[in-house]
Order: sequence, then C-alpha cells, then structure tokens
Amino acid sequence: MEFVKYNAPLSGEIKGIDLNNFLSIEAKKDIKKFVDDNLVALIRNQNINDHKLKDFSKLFGELDPPAPNPYGISFLPEHPEINVISNVKDTKGTPIGNLGDGEATWHADMTYLEEPPKYGILYALEVPKNEGNTHFANMYKAYERLPTKLKEKIEDKIIIHDSSHNSAGMLRKGYKEVKSPEQTPGARHPAIITNPKNNTKRLFLGRRPHAYILGMSISESEKLLDEIWYFATLDEITWTQNWKVGDLLIWKNLYVLHKRDAFNPHSRRIMHRTQIKGDKNLN
Ligand SMILES: [Fe+2]
Repeated sequence: MEFVKYNAPLSGEIKGIDLNNFLSIEAKKDIKKFVDDNLVALIRNQNINDHKLKDFSKLFGELDPPAPNPYGISFLPEHPEINVISNVKDTKGTPIGNLGDGEATWHADMTYLEEPPKYGILYALEVPKNEGNTHFANMYKAYERLPTKLKEKIEDKIIIHDSSHNSAGMLRKGYKEVKSPEQTPGARHPAIITNPKNNTKRLFLGRRPHAYILGMSISESEKLLDEIWYFATLDEITWTQNWKVGDLLIWKNLYVLHKRDAFNPHSRRIMHRTQIKGDKNLN
C-alpha cells in the first residue's frame, strides 16, 4: 500500500490496495489516519459489491442510514444503509437513485441534524467521462483565509442549517418551502469549530441556501453569510475529483464542503454511497 498526498489544499490517493482482499488492523489504522490527515482520499480501480462497500466503510465507524429522498422510497431495499446517487430511471420511469443530473451546490452532508455524519464514502459504478466532477474545499484553510475582523465577527455565531432541501435544491418529502431564513428548519451549529486533537479552528457552514445566523436581522445575516462563503469556496482551497469507474472516495464530511457539477442528462451515472455516524461534538 502506498499513500500519496496530492499537491493540493487537501486530498491524496491510496495506491496498491484491493478492497476485496483482507486488510490488517495496521493497514486499517493507516488508511483512517491518511483520510483524517488529508480530509479526502481516493482509491482507484476497485471492483467491489455492496457487502464489501459496507465492510470497508465500517473501518471509519458505525454506518449511518441515508437521508430521506424526495421520492420517499428506499433505492436499495436489501442494503438500506447504502444510498444510490444516480440520474438513471428504470423501465417504468422511476429514478433508481437520488440527486438527478443537475448541479449539487456546495454543502456538507446532513449537517441539518444535531449529529451529522462524520465521513462520506462514494463508490463509482458507472460514470460519464469528464462530467459530474465533485469538488472539495478545505474548511481549515477557509478559516485561515478569513480577515481578522470577519473571524471576530463570527467567533460566537450560531448558524441554522436548512433541513428542508437536498443539495440539488429539491424540497424533501414532508417539508414546506421556507418563507424567511429565520424560519428555516434544521439544526443550529457554531460557525467555527475547534478540533481538540490539534487545537485548530475551521469553518462549519453546511449549506448556503436558507441559512441564517441567529440573533441578526435577515439582511445582516445574509450579508455576513455571503462574506464568509466567499472565503469558504475560493479556488485556492479546493481539489477536484474527476470520476472513473471503480473510484472509491472517502471524505471527512464535517471538515470540508463538496459540490457536484451538472452533467449531460443523457449520460448514465450510478454511485453507491455510505456514511458514518457522527456525534454532537462535530469532530
Ligand atoms: Fe453531498
């Protein structure tokens, strides 16, 4: 096994590994450390089934079931812990997965919960060439880049993370459109989180649409959020994953933001996805 850190603000690749083979405790430790250190890790050329995907995912903790999708159905009833991310429809026209073919804007997964998942894992079964790239932004580096005044302004601020829409902007089943950001449903989390392991601060934003900073007027909150988001999505703190079939990507969900480009609706893209339970500490 070889660990190659990319020359990028985050991410690296684990080479010389076949996830169908036995992984020693030592190897598992090294993989987890590499993901924790680099926030995103790519493993290419895999050929695994859903059982293996779940087995490997458990290396990072306990599996966390996917969020309810807009169709209110389970995409993979025999593996309810696995989410399907796809634009493909079956012969009856029913989607086999979530998120369609549009852009998924910058977000972290399910931070609208009190205890959002701490790792996300995506495995590419079928992907179009050079389309539907996924971008990641490093939230330590976003915080570093904030001007001192802005850091001070948001030091003790709490943000509401919208639970009513998914990352493709679709209204989730059972939710109503949000009329004003103050009424946004969802968990409230600190704008800045310190990792007790390295005492380093990072931004924690979740998603921009319908976000609201508690205790501010809507116009103040919108202005401040726009200012922070500018620094959170600077090109210089991002890395892009260009998908190939057999790619498996792991990311530290609460330390990065990610987004997906739109792709040709006639292309087929099928991904299987797991996530790992987090806790209130958000670390
Ligand atoms: Fe996501």
